[in-house]
Amino acid sequence: MKGTERVRDLNESVIREMTRKAKEYDAINLSQGYPEYPTHDHILEEAKKAIDSGLNQYSITWGMETLRSKITEKLRDFNHLEYDPEFEITITCGASEAIMSAILGLVEEDDEVLIFQPFYENYVPAVSMASGKPRFTTIGRDLDIDREDIKKKVGEDTKAMILNTPHNPTGKVFQKDELKFIRDICIDEDVLLITDEIYERIIYEGEHISPASLKDMRERTVTIGGFSKVYSVTGWRVGYVAAPKELMKPIRKAHDYTTVCAPTPFQKASIKALALPEDYYDEMVKYYSKGREIVYEGLKKTEMDPLKPEGAYYMLANIENYDMNDREFVNHLVKEKGVAIVPGTSFFDDGGENLVRFCFSQEIDSLNTAMERIRDS
Ligand SMILES: Cc1ncc(COP(=O)(O)O)c(C=O)c1O
Repeated sequence: MKGTERVRDLNESVIREMTRKAKEYDAINLSQGYPEYPTHDHILEEAKKAIDSGLNQYSITWGMETLRSKITEKLRDFNHLEYDPEFEITITCGASEAIMSAILGLVEEDDEVLIFQPFYENYVPAVSMASGKPRFTTIGRDLDIDREDIKKKVGEDTKAMILNTPHNPTGKVFQKDELKFIRDICIDEDVLLITDEIYERIIYEGEHISPASLKDMRERTVTIGGFSKVYSVTGWRVGYVAAPKELMKPIRKAHDYTTVCAPTPFQKASIKALALPEDYYDEMVKYYSKGREIVYEGLKKTEMDPLKPEGAYYMLANIENYDMNDREFVNHLVKEKGVAIVPGTSFFDDGGENLVRFCFSQEIDSLNTAMERIRDS
């Protein structure tokens, strides 16, 4: 099937559907990842100033030079990666567009792309639109990857693997040993690695390691990041891709012809975001840690079995003790209890019927109320 046919075949995004249902039933929305940690005043002021000073037209396609330079510095200091801002950084309309442009630029018809399931739901449509073939390997309940399965599924038809760390929806933070295993597979089988590191600053246990920083991985890795989550600006649509020059060339073409450029005033304000002091990140993680505890303890009081995340701000919970599948369960919760969450199957190619996902990036009061509401669900 061609990419265009696959696009027509795609299902509606379940996460966005649940947000609409939350509105319909006036429910607390723990479905879509809206960060409610307050956006920093410095960034807000900078966005307003940018608009008032006339920065309202297209930026150059690859993004404002000053922002690309600042991202290069951040990648060097935080991710231990070296890139040339002129050719190796592109500012995109969020990580979503970065993922799409990277896949459209690099994946050809019938190329296989290995995706870890449960997955962030945009990866599969992106591979389909590129006429590639998604293949899947499962992260288990113990959060381990299945090394034998990966070895079996990566071969001469595999063009790329997509890796998300910290991982949505499990909260897994990939550690060195696993990343080395993935590195070895990528090198042995000549496979590209596309990494989505949008939650890199939201970590409770373990440390963030950028896969491109592993020996010999820079040349075959496309690193994606974004401002939406860490700075609470999901509506600004600013993200980026970092990749070696030769890989970046086709990515830039896809970017150019899909979006032209990311929003200029918000690119300007994103420079300010990168200048925030370290305690901004400490406070943000403290805030989300509180939410993590409230939801974990709240779910423990029900028949659900929650999985405590190491990073990001989502929590999977097992619902096999209920006489409902994931779809029935989330519909029951939104209609009868006024809490919107996401059914597990939306994160799987096959499986997930006994899982649901809670997002805990909302205000503490809303999380407490939501846990009260579901106590006897
Ligand atoms: C893993 C992951 N990647 C990317 C995105 C999208 O980010 P952006 O708002 O930058 O497009 C999300 C949003 O939920 C996400 O969870």
